[in-house]
Amino acid sequence: MKFKELANIRHSVRKFSSKEVEKETLTQLLDVARKAPSAVNFQPFKVFVVTTNEKLETIKECYHRDWFKAAPVVLVVVSDYDSGWKRASDNKNHADIDVAIFTDHLTLQAADMGLGTCWVCNFDVEKTADLLGLTPKQKPVALIPVGYPADDNIPVKKRKGIDDIAVWI
Ligand SMILES: Cc1cc2nc3c(=O)[nH]c(=O)nc-3n(C[C@H](O)[C@H](O)[C@H](O)COP(=O)(O)O)c2cc1C
Repeated sequence: MKFKELANIRHSVRKFSSKEVEKETLTQLLDVARKAPSAVNFQPFKVFVVTTNEKLETIKECYHRDWFKAAPVVLVVVSDYDSGWKRASDNKNHADIDVAIFTDHLTLQAADMGLGTCWVCNFDVEKTADLLGLTPKQKPVALIPVGYPADDNIPVKKRKGIDDIAVWI
């Protein structure tokens, strides 16, 4: 699939079919996502792949939405601030940016494989960190439910126009 088409078909999926997502499929997904660039190539992140019923039940307590409860897999992308690159001029830690790029690669690759995903950031961060046993320097950035979409509806993108975002100077 051409990138332009992929960018158009990737959308937030909030309705999953009951079809299982195989471990091999998830491995393929992560194998592409890990090719994402990161500042100084530090790759300051972890991704927790939640597939067992027991762990799914607990992670789903961190974001209470019926649609989320139906996701067969949840990925938790985690920033590790200890290994993020810090810019000398202002000490900005780039770990969250790196995680976002990794996650964007992941959601686009998922769409290319016929899988649905949705970024979820409105979750209980503290509870999630506790469940995963994270250190104070590791923070969960997003929960990414993964599953096969229940339908093949692709919504029309509502986006600002180029003139609203581009500043030509
Ligand atoms: C950083 C980020 C956080 C988001 N958090 C949530 C969330 O907590 N819950 C949710 O249902 N959708 C969440 N979304 C999905 C957005 O609502 C969605 O991407 C946006 O409306 C554009 O729609 P599209 O993904 O279908 O193109 C989030 C998206 C991003 C990029």
